[in-house]
Amino acid sequence: MDAASAAVASKPPSIDELIRLARGDMAGVDALIRERMQSPVPVIPALADHLIGSSGKRLRPLLTIASARLCGARDDACLKLAAAVEFIHTATLLHDDVVDSSELRRGRVAAHLIWGAPSSVLVGDFLFARAFELMVEAGSMAALEILARASRVIAEGEVLQLTRAHDLDLSQETYLQIIRAKTAELFAAAAEAGAVSAGAPREQRQALRRFGQDVGLAFQLVDDALDYSGASEVLGKNPGDDFREGKATLPLLLAMARTGAPEEPFWRRTVDRREQTDADFQRARELMRATGALQSTLDLAADYAAAAKAGLAEFSAANPWRPAMEDLADFAVSRRA
Ligand code: IPE
Ligand code: IPE
Ligand code: MG
Ligand code: MG
Repeated sequence: MDAASAAVASKPPSIDELIRLARGDMAGVDALIRERMQSPVPVIPALADHLIGSSGKRLRPLLTIASARLCGARDDACLKLAAAVEFIHTATLLHDDVVDSSELRRGRVAAHLIWGAPSSVLVGDFLFARAFELMVEAGSMAALEILARASRVIAEGEVLQLTRAHDLDLSQETYLQIIRAKTAELFAAAAEAGAVSAGAPREQRQALRRFGQDVGLAFQLVDDALDYSGASEVLGKNPGDDFREGKATLPLLLAMARTGAPEEPFWRRTVDRREQTDADFQRARELMRATGALQSTLDLAADYAAAAKAGLAEFSAANPWRPAMEDLADFAVSRRA
């Protein structure tokens, strides 16, 4: 292999090309987001700007735009849907940080620590409502149905997690059910809504929905691995939140199963009873690495990303949005933030 092909082969997956293709559209989406986060009630724009003005990756609106353009959308109906998708996402982040008692989000102190949990939850509701206004303006009943259902399914996923995720006997099936609802559903809806706004035929719509769902599953699996392996300066959130909360994510379920009886007292004390010291988190990380639990989680994420990419086969490879979307699937797995 010559030096140039070696460089290409080792190139880390990046979504630079997707960002470049979507630049004009995303400028429009950002303008809409800025405009619609305003309110005469002062705390609302202040709190919203704290979250929205920081380093969010904007992956879900990018997916809506990419999906619409891949399906040949010529008008800008997808911009309003993309902004709505990001509003739904940011609303869930405000709620999620209260529920998870997380202290860092997008590299900033979590909003509930500055304005309190009640304001954070209510501004989350405001952003949800803004999302619905935008969806109505977009004028597609089908897209409204897809995103309304996603909003309901996300809430179900978060509640299911709240009631089940501390269960050390949680099955992998229930874990996957939780992440499919709380995370993958919005990726699926983001992609499908984009296709709908382009007037795409049913098969393309469904193919893109499946793509979004597989990318979303990969994305959350990696998120759950990064909670044990990431660094807060890169992640923009604190690793260790899941362990502290005793959340039975896949890395934890695999590590517990693979360490067996000798470590059972350790897991019972730290995860079940949540009696923890800082050293316990280090030990949990060590056990996860030693048992390959993190690697298996990443391997499963890579399988979903591969399935996502395979599902794009029905779109022309000559359409530049297709490889750009394939990059998004790879990025979901290789990301560090
Ligand atoms: C965080 O999503 C919530 C999860 C589903 C894990 P992102 O990592 O996409 O959050 P931002 O928007 O880039 O901050
Ligand atoms: C994210 O789950 C799901 C939603 C925000 C709906 P997490 O709790 O794992 O997300 P982070 O790690 O707080 O971003
Ligand atoms: Mg959380
Ligand atoms: Mg997480």
